[in-house]
Amino acid sequence: MSPHTDILKTLNPKVSDRDVEISFTGVSKTWGENHVLRGLDFDVRAGEKVSIIGPSGSGKTTILRILMTLETPDVGVVTVGGDVLWDAKPGVKNKETKQTIATRRKVGMVFQQFNLFPHMTVLENVIEAPIHVLGISKADAMERAVDLLELVGLQEHMKHTPPELSGGQQQRVAIARALAMRPQVMLFDEPTSALDPELIGEVLNVIRRLATTTNMTMLMVTHEMRFAQEISDRVVMFDKGVVVEQGPPEQLFKNPQQERTQRFLKAVNPY
Ligand SMILES: Nc1ncnc2c1ncn2[C@@H]1O[C@H](COP(=O)(O)OP(=O)(O)OP(=O)(O)O)[C@@H](O)[C@H]1O
Ligand SMILES: [Mg+2]
Repeated sequence: MSPHTDILKTLNPKVSDRDVEISFTGVSKTWGENHVLRGLDFDVRAGEKVSIIGPSGSGKTTILRILMTLETPDVGVVTVGGDVLWDAKPGVKNKETKQTIATRRKVGMVFQQFNLFPHMTVLENVIEAPIHVLGISKADAMERAVDLLELVGLQEHMKHTPPELSGGQQQRVAIARALAMRPQVMLFDEPTSALDPELIGEVLNVIRRLATTTNMTMLMVTHEMRFAQEISDRVVMFDKGVVVEQGPPEQLFKNPQQERTQRFLKAVNPY
C-alpha cells in the first residue's frame, strides 16, 4: 500500500447528497461596458473533473473567483453542494452573507501565482487556515499538514520559506494548503502557466494523482490541452462569457463542432 493511501482517503467527501456540486444559473458580471459573463448557465456534477478552455479575457478566471467569493455576480444564482453561494438580484448591492461564507468553505483554489505567505515556513503556510478558520488544534493541523506535504513530495522542505523554493515546489505547497481545508471542490486557475517548462510536470503529476484517486470535484482552467484531455471527464469551451461547446475530451479536441472552438484549438496548437 502506498504511504499516501490514508491522506488520500480523507480527500473523498461523501457524494450521496451532492449530485450537482456547482451550478451557475443566469449569472452575469459586468465591469463598466465589459460584459464578462452573460447569463451563464453551467453545472458541474459531484466528483466530476472539468476543464475550462477559451481565449484570454473570456471570463474563465471570473467564474473561479465568483466561486471563491473574491468577486460578486451582478445577477444570477450560484450554488455549491446544494447550498446557495450567491443569489444576486439586479440593482441590489449583493454582499456576502453568513451563508455565503459557510458555503464558500467547501471550495479550495490554487492560483496561477501561488499566493503563499513569503515570511512563513511551508508548514506554517499549510496550518494557518485550518487553525484560524476551522479552529483545528495546532497538533492536529500539523499532523495533517505533514501528510499533505509528503503527498506533494515536499517533506524535506517543511521548514523552508517560499522564496527558498522553486516555482514548482511553491505551487505544490499551494495545493497542499488548499487541501488542508478539506474542500469538496478544488479550483485550479492555470496552475502551471507561471512555471518554467521543466517544472510543469511535477505540478501536473500532483493534480493528476488527485484527479485519478479522489472523488473531489475539480474545476480547472488550463492551457495544457494534453493534460486536460487526459484527466477531464468533460471539457468546456468558453468565449465571451458563455459556453460555446462542451463534451468529453476526445470529442471536443478531436471533433469540435463549433467554428469558434475549431479556430481556438488551431491557434493554441498549430501543428
Ligand atoms: N477587477 C476587474 N476590474 C475590471 N475588469 C476586470 C476585472 N477582473 C477582470 N476584468 C476583465 O474581465 C474580463 C475577463 O477576465 P478573466 O480574468 O475572467 O478572463 P480569463 O478568461 O481568465 O482570461 P486569461 O486567459 O487571460 O486569464 C477581462 O476583459 C478582464 O480585463
Ligand atoms: Mg484567467
